[in-house]
Amino acid sequence: MSNPVAASLAPLRTRVLVTGGAGFIGSEVVHQLAALGAEVEVVDNLTNGKAQNINDLLSDRVKLHAVDIRDNDAMVKLLDGVEIVIHMATLGVRHSINNPKENHDVNATATLELLANARAHGVRRVVNISTSEVYGTGFRVPMDENHPTFPHTVYGASKLAGECYARGYNKTYGYDTVVVRPFNVFGPRCHHEGDSGEVIPKFLLRSMAGKPLAIFGDGQQTRDFTYVSDAALGILQAAASPATCGETVNLGAGKELTIQALAEEVMKVTGKRAEIAYHDPRPGDVLRLYADTARAQQLFDYRPKVGLEAGLAHLKAWYEARPESLDELLAEEWTDNWNRRD
Ligand SMILES: NC(=O)c1ccc[n+]([C@@H]2O[C@H](COP(=O)([O-])OP(=O)(O)OC[C@H]3O[C@@H](n4cnc5c(N)ncnc54)[C@H](O)[C@@H]3O)[C@@H](O)[C@H]2O)c1
Repeated sequence: MSNPVAASLAPLRTRVLVTGGAGFIGSEVVHQLAALGAEVEVVDNLTNGKAQNINDLLSDRVKLHAVDIRDNDAMVKLLDGVEIVIHMATLGVRHSINNPKENHDVNATATLELLANARAHGVRRVVNISTSEVYGTGFRVPMDENHPTFPHTVYGASKLAGECYARGYNKTYGYDTVVVRPFNVFGPRCHHEGDSGEVIPKFLLRSMAGKPLAIFGDGQQTRDFTYVSDAALGILQAAASPATCGETVNLGAGKELTIQALAEEVMKVTGKRAEIAYHDPRPGDVLRLYADTARAQQLFDYRPKVGLEAGLAHLKAWYEARPESLDELLAEEWTDNWNRRD
């Protein structure tokens, strides 16, 4: 019997351009696209992404272009013959605290320019990857796509601008755009380092090394964590489905977890108890995120498969298989990673 999910992805067996495709989630999207037989043009200036994330795939069907999405001339050439753009290139939330203008230029302005260029050059569809950070703190949960948007940071605001431009292109010009709002994602190739460092890799590496875990605030803030293969598959399902044209869709696990409870889960998986050090809250921190994923289920039968415990165990095994020691990895990680470390 044929697999209905695989059958639904058939429209992606075409030329797809993925911005940010050497990054954490982008590289998983590119791996899944390559496995489907798509022709993939990866655009990534490698500020936070790594060529090694997709080196195993590079061929005449999967190409990496080390190009900045703000370089319009280069982007126009690369869009030639592309059918679908999956737009993931972004500068992150901690970056926005020190570099609000550059964050806006990449996340908002370059998204608008990409939409204009894609439409002018005959790209059929643009899938804009936004974020749950556009909501700010959830005040009614679970949060569906009609929950008000009240971002706390320039990152959230610039991502909201980008997704509004994508919806604007759909409503104004009838252009085929899709907006996807992933909630927090974790798994292999995620970031522990510098201002990209996220809570799960930071907790996991510190716990594996027997070092204290840092919690900002009281640990009662919540997140909804999705394993990266599920998030990437959801992005591809949204990109392939004709039903998503003009839609805005959450992708999450549909499970709310406090950061305090996450610390306990991490320590269960590593089997090591570590001290928890409580620090002042992070600037602009969102206090509650919990996804309602009914729309994704209804539009493209989105069903994440990997639970938190299994996902944490996979990530731990991935770190153990890396050539770097825990000390080497932790040397790239620091606690208050929204502050510069010059
Ligand atoms: N990681 C999460 O938990 C999460 C949650 C919600 C939404 N998202 C969204 O998913 C997407 C991917 O995020 P990620 O976590 O994989 O981050 P990432 O930093 O690993 O990926 C972003 C990529 O964009 C590239 N990039 C940055 N500026 C660029 C520029 N000017 N030109 C070309 N490339 C540039 C980076 O080098 C990087 O490879 C983003 O749109 C992000 O907003 C991520």
